[in-house]
Amino acid sequence: MQTEKMTRVSMDTIVSLAKRRGFVYPSSEIYGGYASFWDYGPVGVELKRNIKEAWWHDIVRRRPEVVGLETSQIMHPRVWQSSGHLQNFTDPLVDCLNCKQRFRADHLSGYEEKVIAGDPAPLAEISCPNCGERGKWTEPRAFNLMFKTFVGPVEDAAAVTYLRPETAQGMFVQFANVLGSSRQKLPFGIAQVGRVFRNEITAGNFIFRLRELEQMELEYFVRPGDDDAWYAYWRDYTMEWFTGLGVDPENLRLRPHDPATLSHYSKGTTDLEYLFPFGWGELWGVANRTDFDLKAHSTGSGKDLTYFDEETKEHITPYVIEPALGVDRAFLVFLLNAYDEEPDKDGTRVVLRFHPRLAPVKVAVLPLSKKEPLATTARELRDMLSASMNAEYDETGSIGKRYRRQDEIGTPLCVTVDFQTAEDNAVTIRDRDTMEQDRVSLPDLEATIRSKLGL
Ligand code: GAP
Repeated sequence: MQTEKMTRVSMDTIVSLAKRRGFVYPSSEIYGGYASFWDYGPVGVELKRNIKEAWWHDIVRRRPEVVGLETSQIMHPRVWQSSGHLQNFTDPLVDCLNCKQRFRADHLSGYEEKVIAGDPAPLAEISCPNCGERGKWTEPRAFNLMFKTFVGPVEDAAAVTYLRPETAQGMFVQFANVLGSSRQKLPFGIAQVGRVFRNEITAGNFIFRLRELEQMELEYFVRPGDDDAWYAYWRDYTMEWFTGLGVDPENLRLRPHDPATLSHYSKGTTDLEYLFPFGWGELWGVANRTDFDLKAHSTGSGKDLTYFDEETKEHITPYVIEPALGVDRAFLVFLLNAYDEEPDKDGTRVVLRFHPRLAPVKVAVLPLSKKEPLATTARELRDMLSASMNAEYDETGSIGKRYRRQDEIGTPLCVTVDFQTAEDNAVTIRDRDTMEQDRVSLPDLEATIRSKLGL
């Protein structure tokens, strides 16, 4: 299928298309919405599932040395003590002394560069993005991003715990159990897809920065000494995965972090970044977490979290390379990348050129008219196809309007049942990208669709 496209789209256009076509709605909208929370509509949940499926397939099922895991979203509070999150999972918060607006210091233009350069007063020359006042700031305060909650009926200090801000810790605290039951040898990985929560200070940019989100994380355990090579492998893989699913490489780049800005657990981090409508932003972070986490949990729990190396007959603490990707951010990238507009006889055709693996609906079956036997034949074809792919039936509106709707949700193929179908036992398949139409006999329909979609 053709995937080239020319359009760069604004965030407003994407937000409005997402709502109109049922990809993403503002959370609690009838109450005025809720900042940094969004809901996925009927088409959006299909796209989101396909993204998670593609990741799970490529990272877990295709690799014999990677196994899956699903841990609870609320864990023992000591997990967050040992992991360092209680102390270090913070953002620097500053208030403008003039207009009282609150910002993340590291989001103010020029701040990070000054910190990296060792400037003792990095805020002195920085102007407030809201009122323009220069250098009038409170001292940065560390703000912890974890949502606090209570477990059980008594709301006292002993009952406090946190909603997990990353899935990663589940993999570390279950390391020994997974090793025991899966008999993996180094290098091996544990993968998890799940919901996480972060009390982000700055809201906005649609689903780019959420307070409730999903992550797809891999913890890839390796021998110390092999870590640099595996770090490079997974760093490069992030780029391959997105381009393999049709994302324009021009809009992707790998950005290594400056050592002065690394997270508390990291020896090295590189972000795969995407050129969003508001500028370059992190999409997929790859970190060399060394043996920090396993050692921290071993010390915190008093349990042995080592690996017995059959070759050297020694107990070692593996290093871990972590590619961590946000499902929602990947969703936004695939949506932005897919968006295209082109002139057509009615004005402008809007089309989402999703890779067939990701397209929410794979095929739409459309009777040219609601009259019989066209409608029944079309319904029967949809039922037959839906056994193996997401297939939709639509009979409302003119055929042109129905094609447009399918283009706008990125359906790669439309099958049209027309008045000739009863005579020649054939239907027309229309390609979303080329708009070419092929006549296909009904016995060949499913195989032809599968081959066109590359399934
Ligand atoms: N375990 C490591 C970790 O959580 P991270 O860079 O904080 O690393 C990984 O998060 C990925 O999760 C990011 O690259 C991004 O795709 C996604 N992510 C993080 N915070 C997010 C937020 N507030 N909203 C949406 N996605 C977010």
